Amino acid sequence: MDFSELNRAAPVLFEQEVDSTNLRIRDMALRGAAEGTILFAEAQTAGRGRMGRSFLSPPGGLYVSMLLHASEEPARDLTLTPGVAVAVSRAIERVSGISCGIKWPNDLILQNKKLCGILVESFMVGARRELVVGIGVNVNTERFPPSLVTAISLYQATGERCALEPLARALTEELDAFIAAWRADSACVLNDYRRLCLNLGRTVRLSDGRIGTAVDVDPEFRLLVRFPDGGEEAVSYGEVSVRGLYGYV
Ligand code: BTN
Repeated sequence: MDFSELNRAAPVLFEQEVDSTNLRIRDMALRGAAEGTILFAEAQTAGRGRMGRSFLSPPGGLYVSMLLHASEEPARDLTLTPGVAVAVSRAIERVSGISCGIKWPNDLILQNKKLCGILVESFMVGARRELVVGIGVNVNTERFPPSLVTAISLYQATGERCALEPLARALTEELDAFIAAWRADSACVLNDYRRLCLNLGRTVRLSDGRIGTAVDVDPEFRLLVRFPDGGEEAVSYGEVSVRGLYGYV
């Protein structure tokens, strides 16, 4: 794949298989890679997921990481992951016509199953904090192991194979456009996020077991949950199960 016509300051690189694109980007950053460097892989042997989990990354998916300088205020970077979810959904819709939902904070959902996961990790390069934005999209996977009944691929949803190159190009363009807008306004995609967020109006269960209704997403992209006693809480981290998704009935 050759994306030189995009005229980006930083390179877009491709590998058939790596351990983890997030780890590769971190290594490249330690060796002086430019901000905005992107690495795509068609398979990962040690894909990293949220909360210390692994991310199954067989051939047929598209796995990508991008290097970014962290903001001056760490709280601002918490808005990056949900925003990236909107950018990725735009890229997927452009190439496949499929519109997916978002499970707060950042899983992309199709037919109540997970199509894409996003993991932002931070690390130090000297005295500077860097971020790697990692995105794994299930593109042409025909079948997932029984342990992953909650996963779905674009192929499974449409019955058609999706070419990886146009998707990689759309992802690059949408990520670049989003990051530029996000640098100016960290809530730049808030309205789209609220429209796509599947949690809103539904029963949710927090990681501490409390059950409530998700009523809004605030400009910091926290999920506002209303409890039966009328109290409300802005949730900023942790797992929030949504009734009807991933086996929560
Ligand atoms: C999750 O849903 O748990 C997050 C999954 C993030 C997976 C992507 S694939 C590309 C990048 N490299 C990794 O090792 N992980 C992220």
